[in-house]
Amino acid sequence: PAPGWAIEADVVVVGSGVAGLTTALRCAAAGRRTVVVTKARLDDGSTRWAQGGIAAALDDGDTPEQHLDDTLVAGAGLCDEAAVRTLVTEGPDAVHRLIAAGARFDTTPDGDEIALTREGGHHRRRIAHAGGDATGAEISRALVEAVRAAGLRTIENALVLDLLTDGAGRTSGVTLHVMGEGQHDGVGAVHAPAVVLATGGMGQVFSATTNPPVSTGDGVALALRAGAEVSDLEFVQFHPTVLYLGPDAEGQQPLISEAVRGEGAHLVDADGTRFMVGQHELAELAPRDIVAKAILRRSLEQGVEHMYLDGRHFGAPMWESRFPTILAACRSHGIDPVTEPIPVAPAAHYASGGVRTDLHGRTTVPGLYACGEVACTGVHGANRLASNSLLEGLVFAERIAADIAGRGPAPRPADGPAPVADGAPAAPRTTLPLLAPETRTAVQRIMSAGAGVLRSAESLALAAAELDRIHQEATEAAAQEAGAPEAAQKAPEPGVEAWEATNLLCVARVLVAAARRREETRGCHWREDHPDRDDASWRRHFRITLDADRA
Ligand code: SIN
Repeated sequence: PAPGWAIEADVVVVGSGVAGLTTALRCAAAGRRTVVVTKARLDDGSTRWAQGGIAAALDDGDTPEQHLDDTLVAGAGLCDEAAVRTLVTEGPDAVHRLIAAGARFDTTPDGDEIALTREGGHHRRRIAHAGGDATGAEISRALVEAVRAAGLRTIENALVLDLLTDGAGRTSGVTLHVMGEGQHDGVGAVHAPAVVLATGGMGQVFSATTNPPVSTGDGVALALRAGAEVSDLEFVQFHPTVLYLGPDAEGQQPLISEAVRGEGAHLVDADGTRFMVGQHELAELAPRDIVAKAILRRSLEQGVEHMYLDGRHFGAPMWESRFPTILAACRSHGIDPVTEPIPVAPAAHYASGGVRTDLHGRTTVPGLYACGEVACTGVHGANRLASNSLLEGLVFAERIAADIAGRGPAPRPADGPAPVADGAPAAPRTTLPLLAPETRTAVQRIMSAGAGVLRSAESLALAAAELDRIHQEATEAAAQEAGAPEAAQKAPEPGVEAWEATNLLCVARVLVAAARRREETRGCHWREDHPDRDDASWRRHFRITLDADRA
C-alpha cells in the first residue's frame, strides 16, 4: 500500500528493547533527529522478559579474557573472535553507563558491589541481575524512562513493512503500518538515511517458546526483502529449562532462569537422579546446548516428556527474594518450587544468527544497521553464551550510534510530518505474498515437528515441503487476485497479523534451508543423522540472501 503520511528524520530505530532504545538515546544525544518505531508498546519486546541478567567481567578476579574464553567455547568454533573481543572488553563500561542512565542492579549485602551470579557455560560469577530475576524488566523501565525524559519521538503499534531505498540502493527510510496512533495512523513512512533494525528475535516461529508474541522475525524478513545478507539462522537456541505445561502448550512459556541452576538447583530425571553429573565438568551449568540435549536424551530414554529442576533446598525466603518472578509464574500454574521439583523441558529461546553485520552494526545494505537479537554480529557463533545478549545489545548499540554520528551532520530537511512527495524515488522491495493470519499456527507446528531441538534430513525435508506448499498456495492466490480479482478467493486483509504470518514463513523457510544444508551437529544445531561436529567441512557460515546463498 502507498504511504499516506511521512516523517523526516536522521535515524529511524525499529524496535524498543535494550538494543533499540540504547541506540536511539545515543543517536539523539549526538544531535540526530531520531524516531523510534515499535510494533506494540515501548516495553513489549523480549528485553522485558530477560531474567538471569547481563554478563560482564565486573568482578575484580574476572577478566574480559576469561569471558572471551567462555563465549568462544559456547560458540562451538563459529564465533567471530574480533566481535567477541569487542563485546567483552567494551561490556563492563557499557554496563556502568547503563547504571548511570538509571538501571538499578542488585548489590551485595553491604551494598558496595554489584551482586553477581553464574549461569551455564560461565566459569565465574559474572552475571549482574536486578529485582532478583527481573533484570530485563528493570533495564526496560530505565531505558523507557530515559527515552521519555529525553523527549524522543516514538511511534507505538507500528509494524515496519519494508525498507525504502534510493536510486543508488542506499537506505532512505521505512514504510510502516500504524494502528490507532492519531495523526500517524494507517500506512506511512519515516524517511531517514539511517535505519537501525532492533526488532528482536523469531522465537514465535516455533510452537513453544520463551519469546513474547511480538517476536516474529520481522527484522530478518525485512532485511531479506531489502536484499541484505543473513547468517547462522540454523542456530536456534533452545533454553533447557522452560516450565513444562503439557504436550499441547503453545506460544510463550514461562522461563526458569539458568540463574536458578547458578544458585545451586539440580536437574533430576523421573527417578530423582542428577543426570548432568558426570556428563560435563560444569554439570548443570554446562553450556545450554549440552544441557538441552541431555534433557531431551534422558526424556527419550525414560519415555517421558520432561525432566525436573529441584530447588527445594533453597527454602521459601530465598525463592521469594531471589526468584520472585519465577516463583509467581510456577505458582500460577499450580507448582510450588519451595515444596516440589519444577517440571522443565527445552523451548525455543534465542536466534543466535540474524542479519549479518560488521563491528559497527552495518549490514550489507548501505545505511541499514542491525542490533541485538535480530543481528548476527558474530559474537554468538553456533550457540550464545547465557546472558551475553543484553550485553551485545548495549555494546553494539553504542557502536552503531557512534558510526552514524561519525558521518558528520546529516542533511536537515524541515522536521515534522510531511506529505509524501509524488514520484519519490524511494521504493520498497516487497516480493512475498501476504499470508492469512491463521497460517502462523501451521508454520509453528511444522517448525516444531521438523526443525526443533532434534533435526534430521528427513524431518527437515518434510518441513521444507510443507512450508513450500504454503508459500506456493499464497503465491497462486496472489497471482489470481492480481489477474482476476472477482474470481479469486478472498485475499488476506493487510494488517499486523497477516504481515507477521508472512514474516514467520519467510524466516522459517530460510532457517530450514540452512539447517538442511549443515550436515553436522554443532552448538544448538543438532542433526540426528549427522551426530558429530565436522570442522573439516562445516566450520563456516552460510551467507544467505533471498535470491542466492553463499557458504
Ligand atoms: C536465563 O535467565 O536463563 C536466560 C538468560 C539468557 O538467555 O541469556
